[in-house]
Amino acid sequence: MAFQNIIVEIRGQVGLVTLNRPQALNALNEALIAELNEALSDFESNPGIGCTVITGAEKAFAAGADVKEMAQKGYVESYLGKFLDGWTRIAETRKPVIAAVSGFCLGGGLELAMMCDIVIASETARFALPEITLGIMPGAGGTQRLPRFIGKAKAMDLILTGRMMDAAEAERCGLVARVVRPENLLDEAMAAAAKVASFSTPIVMMAKETVNRAQEMSLAEGARFERRLFLSMFATEDQKEGMQAFVAKRKPDFRNR
Ligand code: CAA
Repeated sequence: MAFQNIIVEIRGQVGLVTLNRPQALNALNEALIAELNEALSDFESNPGIGCTVITGAEKAFAAGADVKEMAQKGYVESYLGKFLDGWTRIAETRKPVIAAVSGFCLGGGLELAMMCDIVIASETARFALPEITLGIMPGAGGTQRLPRFIGKAKAMDLILTGRMMDAAEAERCGLVARVVRPENLLDEAMAAAAKVASFSTPIVMMAKETVNRAQEMSLAEGARFERRLFLSMFATEDQKEGMQAFVAKRKPDFRNR
């Protein structure tokens, strides 16, 4: 598939997607979401790739779902056309995804970032769910993920007022993992992704799956799920390799088995 709205690269073991609709501040239209799904699914089936980075431009990671595309939509058309279903598939990506966020990260842009596993932000990043100002509310998981990530008080504040939060506040409340200088953003995200990709891919995928269960299950159920997967890791060659390498004081050579 030739991509019109994103740029896709492979650097070592890392897949890199750059959102590329600068004329619309990377507003996420349906074509872009379809292309993003295609790229992620290509990375997912490529055994040479262990982690993905999604980034945008300096001014905007993404300024939300495409309002011009949404403005004319009706209910029945949206329902029959499964509007926003493509977004849900992004959240189901099994290999880790890192968002490298600079500038505006609004509405669907923030919802996309929250579907990623690690969010690294530039000092210039600005986060908001401004849907309320358009006569709607977030529709791609924002009302559910934001309170789980930063608590009800701040989530209500952001969703009901539509106000913007800067990178320092986003880091303080746990929405982003790291804040870095703008010029270091992509390098830092790529280095983190290369680190993740250097480990055993199936083990990394299981760790991601297990952490995500913490959002969905009770503590007791989640801990049981963790224990099952943890024990299953002792059936992998990579567990043997990782521990034998530690004992022998050498670097492990993970084979993804
Ligand atoms: N959809 C479509 N086009 C958008 C867009 C969006 N979300 N955000 C920006 N653009 C377009 C603008 O219309 C403008 O295009 P034209 O030059 O053709 O007029 C271009 O991008 C540049 O934008 P601005 O001139 O507005 O740039 P600015 O620097 O003055 O302002 C901004 C930047 C504050 C981000 C402003 O563009 C803005 O408020 N954008 C909309 C943000 C928003 O409401 N996002 C939520 C969308 S709803 C959603 O995401 C639903 C969901 O949950 C799935």
